[in-house]
Amino acid sequence: MGVIGLGYVGLPLAVAFAEAGERVVAVEVDSQKVAAVRAGESYIEDVPSERLRAALERIRATTRYADLAPAEAILICVPTPLSANREPDLGPLNASAQALAQVLQPGQLVVLESTTYPGTTRERLVPLLEESGLRVGADFNVAFSPERVDPGRTDYTLRNTPKVIGGITERCAERAEELYRRICDHIVPVSTPEAAELTKLLENIFRSVNIALVNELAILAERMGINIWEVIDAASTKPYGFMRFEPGPGMGGHCLPVDPFYLTWRAREFHMSTEFIELAGKINQQMPYHCVERIERALNDAGKPVKGSRILILGASYKGGVGDTRESPAIRIMEVLAERGAALSYDDPFVPALPDLGLESTPAAGAVGDADAVILVTAHPGVDYAELARRSALFVDLRGVTRGIEVENLVRL
Ligand SMILES: NC(=O)c1ccc[n+]([C@@H]2O[C@H](COP(=O)([O-])OP(=O)(O)OC[C@H]3O[C@@H](n4cnc5c(N)ncnc54)[C@H](O)[C@@H]3O)[C@@H](O)[C@H]2O)c1
Repeated sequence: MGVIGLGYVGLPLAVAFAEAGERVVAVEVDSQKVAAVRAGESYIEDVPSERLRAALERIRATTRYADLAPAEAILICVPTPLSANREPDLGPLNASAQALAQVLQPGQLVVLESTTYPGTTRERLVPLLEESGLRVGADFNVAFSPERVDPGRTDYTLRNTPKVIGGITERCAERAEELYRRICDHIVPVSTPEAAELTKLLENIFRSVNIALVNELAILAERMGINIWEVIDAASTKPYGFMRFEPGPGMGGHCLPVDPFYLTWRAREFHMSTEFIELAGKINQQMPYHCVERIERALNDAGKPVKGSRILILGASYKGGVGDTRESPAIRIMEVLAERGAALSYDDPFVPALPDLGLESTPAAGAVGDADAVILVTAHPGVDYAELARRSALFVDLRGVTRGIEVENLVRL
């Protein structure tokens, strides 16, 4: 097995295949990550270091693409970010495909796992791989299979999350199915890589749009004096036709704020503007600013300006249980509060330091008493937020974690 890109997606896959008895060559451009994997030190929460160490005998981490030559199958798990002007940046994918083409061998299967727009596998990846002189379908096989990992989640894992696969040819699909059956219980074949690519985007756009909808309703409900959490809890009792989504400080991570815009970009070629995606993005991007306004109002009610107030932020990562701060709304909220003169501190056991803000995490237990306002932005598991709220002069809960708790000086999104 070969895995290219040892991040949130690639490292768990490498470990899963190693645990299934495969020998894995894991290629990564970041030599620090290679060194960490070799030392059995995991930097991904979903893969505890003990688990990595137990599988390490079968994993060879390297920066050298040449080591992929003996692999039967190679999974590409490199990032697919947006450029500065919010267009797909296929730089890492191009670089990995070009490097792989140099060492591609007849009989190999290449699977792209990175989220991307429909057409990438066939129109971008295959031509780059064919620069090897080999032909897809005849000499090697190619498929797209989107990663569905939800970092920090333990009930759905690689093993029990159905795996969608679309191959360039039937044989490509068959080979990819055979491969993933070794680590996944349920395979979902679709007819083309394009269908698989769009499946992943549909899943993420569905979430983005529904989060935006409930965020907009939360803002409206607050103005109307209606408790949005009570409404969501009540609506969730409907046994069919409703799916629960919760308001929050905005979307973060590598996926939801980024992936939908891959489709928006592609849609332009087909003379379509994807209005749901744009609108959802706009509402969700606005949420950190709405939250800052909420914090300002709460401080104002306590007779305090933001400037000079001691504000303690709980949770800096974009979601509970992980240390990923990419696109985290908590960072945006902190940046805006800092611009306005707040004296900031934060507590996040998963994020020891925020060098750009010049801050280091300080345990909330000792700090809540000194803060003018404590803001719960990201709720991590195992923390007694009700207790922290009780000990705070002012507690602003942007996640609805304290609902059902009656505490004075508690403000909810
Ligand atoms: N993180 C998630 O929860 C998640 C879930 C589903 C899908 N995805 C998708 O999977 C893909 C990877 O995401 P991720 O979160 O694992 O990213 P990541 O940044 O955590 O990991 C990607 C790794 O690839 C490495 N890399 C970059 N260019 C390379 C190259 N040319 N050769 C070898 N290695 C290279 C990077 O150094 C990095 O370690 C993205 O397309 C993402 O949208 C991510």
